[in-house]
Amino acid sequence: MRETVRLKNTGLRGVTVADSAISFIDGEKGILIYRGYRIEDLVAYSTFMETSYLLLFGTLPTPEQLDSFTQQVKAMRTLPGHVIDSMRLWPKNARPMDILQASVPLLSMTKDREEGDEPDRRICLECSIGLIARLPSLVAVWHRIRTGQPILEPDPNLDHAANFLWMLQGKKPDTATAGDLDICLILHADHTFNASTFAAREVVSTRASLYAGVSAALGALSGNLHGGANTKVMEMLIKLENEPDIEQWVAGQLRRGDRLMGMGHAIYKTGDPRVAFLKTMGKRLEKQTVTKWAAISERIEKAALALFAEQGKTTILPNVDFASAPVYHLMGIPTDLMTPVFAISRVAGWCAHIIEEQFADAQGKPALYRPQAQYVGEYCGPMGCEYVPMKTR
Ligand code: ACO
Repeated sequence: MRETVRLKNTGLRGVTVADSAISFIDGEKGILIYRGYRIEDLVAYSTFMETSYLLLFGTLPTPEQLDSFTQQVKAMRTLPGHVIDSMRLWPKNARPMDILQASVPLLSMTKDREEGDEPDRRICLECSIGLIARLPSLVAVWHRIRTGQPILEPDPNLDHAANFLWMLQGKKPDTATAGDLDICLILHADHTFNASTFAAREVVSTRASLYAGVSAALGALSGNLHGGANTKVMEMLIKLENEPDIEQWVAGQLRRGDRLMGMGHAIYKTGDPRVAFLKTMGKRLEKQTVTKWAAISERIEKAALALFAEQGKTTILPNVDFASAPVYHLMGIPTDLMTPVFAISRVAGWCAHIIEEQFADAQGKPALYRPQAQYVGEYCGPMGCEYVPMKTR
């Protein structure tokens, strides 16, 4: 007889559902670690390509391994023709996260898909590399199609972040901007069992494909309480650009019971370690412009923290989305592409988790996730309620 644990409306907070060797968060100390390495060190010394290798393969690569990995990614950046043909038919005002979620399964209809009933680790790794390579292309190509601009071929001379900006914007970014975006990609690459990663793992626990897992993760990421928050933060900043009384606006928002986007985190209770990097980056990028996002953000943050403190909610602090939105804006990334940019980073973590879910179970067989619900609906006994035919209802 299995023991059942009753958890109601907790969002599974604090419930451990699997072992994972991919990343670690200490929410009290504000620590984030990928495969043993602190993000501070990865930001200082690594690149998104190396971090992706680390997440997927579990160790830092040798120079030869990194070179081979990078070449593989570069070789897979081009999208299959049928994906581009499909995109041309889709409504131009579709939400980019929907486009991304719809496009990923189309990538599996090529020869690099997983074959057979049982997943094969080598093929899953190849598919993961393909997804890391192609998610940026999907975002950029969709943007070019929806804005009526010519699609640009990937440039093998450009690194991952730089190539994305090139394919999106049609001009080669300067080294500093490309380097900043690469750091953003490192910072977003993994985050233990967040909602989208759990969605991916849950889907592949049924032995569905890696593509099905990533597509599900994209759906979860799109929500405003998760990755969709960065887009909402930028919309808020733009709305408040000419607002004289930001403090009053924040107070009104909280008085109405509305959530302030970019504030709060399910795990970090003393601060999100990714925020400091992004705030510094935002201030540096802003020096080259006449915008005032840092000042507006500071006023929102100060007002919100004071009001949260009055309510005894001192653990609600700015999260990664609060700080990344103005950074992406200053890089020229359209507001509705901010969540897709989150995805082009997090896909490395999703794939690592999917592969771990598929292959790393200690007992040698993956567990199918299958929680229970407490039934609170109509119950008329074991025979069920009397069915009343339509005409006598
Ligand atoms: N604005 C206003 N109130 C908030 C906020 C916020 N941003 N965050 C939490 N609260 C309040 C809740 O209303 C709740 O109040 P109550 O107890 O009076 O009902 C209390 O704090 C606890 O809220 P929970 O949702 O249970 O707290 P949790 O820490 O689990 O929430 C979450 C985390 C969902 C991220 C929340 O902080 C939130 O909605 N933030 C805004 C959306 C956002 O920025 N999401 C991005 C998160 S980072 C990421 O996913 C990449």
